[in-house]
Amino acid sequence: MKWTEAYATGNEQVDEQHKTLFLASEHYREALEAGHGEGGYDLFVEFLSSYAKIHFSFEEECMLARHCPIANQNKQEHCAFAKLIDKEVARFHRDGFDRRMAFVLVDKIDHWLDSHIARVDVQLKSVTP
Ligand SMILES: [Fe+2]
Ligand SMILES: [Fe+2]
Repeated sequence: MKWTEAYATGNEQVDEQHKTLFLASEHYREALEAGHGEGGYDLFVEFLSSYAKIHFSFEEECMLARHCPIANQNKQEHCAFAKLIDKEVARFHRDGFDRRMAFVLVDKIDHWLDSHIARVDVQLKSVTP
């Protein structure tokens, strides 16, 4: 899935971080669709887990600093996403790579990125000077 202007938040750093998340998901999906992806799954999920957390902290600070009315909801949805990733990391460490679950995960990530950024994160625009 590609980042488009529909996801623009008016904050360049936040947008760059979002683009990195879109790219990571897109590249990993391409690997899966080409029949690869098993070897890179641990790196993919570990990257997502740590990068998303760094991004979430940064974005939450931005919303708080600008008294963004959706700051609380943003934080709650970040927690839900972090849980989703952590759950899959735990499953992967327990049961190993599962191609079907890898597809399920990238589908969930893309759905989350689309719905969360376009609905919640873009509200930064209205409070960004
Ligand atoms: Fe975000
Ligand atoms: Fe967010």
